[in-house]
Amino acid sequence: MTDNAKELAALQQEAKTRRDIQAAITAMFAAEDEGLRSALTNAKQAGLPEIQISPIQGKFLQLLATMCNARKILEIGALAGYSGIWLARALPADGRLITLEMNPEHATVVRTSFEKAGVSNRTEVRVGRALDLLPTLESEAPFDLVFIDADKPPYALYLDWALRLTRPGSIIVADNCIREGKAFKQPEDDGVAGIIALNKRMASDPRLVSLVLAMDDDYTDGFAVAVVKQQ
Ligand code: DHB
Ligand code: MG
Repeated sequence: MTDNAKELAALQQEAKTRRDIQAAITAMFAAEDEGLRSALTNAKQAGLPEIQISPIQGKFLQLLATMCNARKILEIGALAGYSGIWLARALPADGRLITLEMNPEHATVVRTSFEKAGVSNRTEVRVGRALDLLPTLESEAPFDLVFIDADKPPYALYLDWALRLTRPGSIIVADNCIREGKAFKQPEDDGVAGIIALNKRMASDPRLVSLVLAMDDDYTDGFAVAVVKQQ
C-alpha cells in the first residue's frame, strides 16, 4: 500500500469507529419509537428536506428540558416535528411546546406527526414568519427552554428574542452552529453569517454561559447551548 492509501484506510477506519460508537449510543440511549419514526416518514412523503437532528441530539434536548424542569418550551422552526416530539415528551402533562413554522403545509404535516406521537395535547404549531410571531409571545413568556432551528440569516435576531422570552435558569439551544467549521471563519453567505453572529453573541453575552458541541452523526455540526445566568 502507498502512504496515501494507508492514510485513506486509516481515515475510513476512524470514520467507521465513530459511526459504530454513535450507533451504539443511539441504540442504548436514544432509540426511536414508532411516533418518531413515523414523523420522519410523514415528512419525507410530504417532500420536506431530511435535515432533522439526530436521535442523540433529540435525547440531549430532552435531557436539557428535564434538567431545567421545563413546563414551557418554544421552538423556532418546526421542520418535520421530529425535535418537537423529543422536546414535548420531556414536558409534564400540563406543559406546553409552542413551535413556529412558516410553511402552512409543513405545519399540517407536523400536527399529524404530533398526533401520531401522542403529544398533541401539549403542543401547538403556530404558522407565520418567526420574526412576526415572536413579538406576540411576550404575554406567554418566560419560556424555560428555547430551541432555534430555523432559517439561518436571522439567527442572531432569534437569539435576541430568546433572551427576551426567557428567565434566569432558562436554556437556549441553537442547531447548526459548527457547519463543518464554517461557523468559525469568514462568512461565505448570509446563512453562515447569521450562525457566526449567533455564536459570537452566545460566547460573549454576559447574561449567558454557553458552549458549542459537535454532536451530529459525523461531528461536523452541532448545538450551541446556553443557560441564562442568575443575576
Ligand atoms: C439546513 C438547515 C438545518 O436546520 C439543518 O439542520 C441542516 C441543514 C439547511 O438549510 O441546509
Ligand atoms: Mg437544523
